[in-house]
Amino acid sequence: MQSLENKILLEGQVLSDEILKVDSFLNHQVDPFLMREIGEEFARRFKDEAITKVLTIESSGIAPATMAALQLGVPLVFARKKKSLTMADQYYKAEVFSFTKRETTLIAVGKPFLNADDHVLIIDDFLANGQAAEGLIDVVQQAGAHVVGIGIVIEKAFQDGGTRLRQSGFRVESLARIASLQDGAISFVKKEKV
Ligand code: G4P
Ligand code: NA
Ligand code: NA
Repeated sequence: MQSLENKILLEGQVLSDEILKVDSFLNHQVDPFLMREIGEEFARRFKDEAITKVLTIESSGIAPATMAALQLGVPLVFARKKKSLTMADQYYKAEVFSFTKRETTLIAVGKPFLNADDHVLIIDDFLANGQAAEGLIDVVQQAGAHVVGIGIVIEKAFQDGGTRLRQSGFRVESLARIASLQDGAISFVKKEKV
């Protein structure tokens, strides 16, 4: 998605060979016009799927996922991050290990918000090692629901989450795919011509 790549080049800050900071439009301040375009693009890519729900994880997934849900005309559900769970039997839950943060987080979705007949589009802001996406897939499967696909705003293609998810048979649509952040330079994966 060209406007997203332009925004990343203009405002993204390379913090290290592995971390891209995009606090000015995605992770702290949010650009609502860009988020609207992102929602339209996800809806366009998944238009042939009978999606009934969009699922993301708090907090930075919520803005793009809400815009996708708006375009698709379905509810957005966001998994909550919890320190501990009281009334644990009322939630679908999964443990998500973050390689970036070196910590495990418990994510939880209340059982009324995912059902066996749901066709779920999972959306997240970043895809790195895929642990968050795998936790969300786990939650959907606990509900007996179907994962239609995974929509990612920024995929770091040099980490293995995207490869693992695609090899597992999931459709992953990333709006920007970063090939490298080495030496402070942002480069994107070259587009395949269809
Ligand atoms: P993974 O799920 O793909 O394995 O990713 P990882 O554990 O490494 O990511 C942990 C957190 O860091 C996630 O946010 C993820 O979105 C974010 N993240 C990963 N790589 C980058 C990056 O290069 N730049 C930025 N800005 N964020 C990155 P989170 O802890 O869920 O926090 P929140 O922002 O959603 O609240
Ligand atoms: Na996230
Ligand atoms: Na994040």
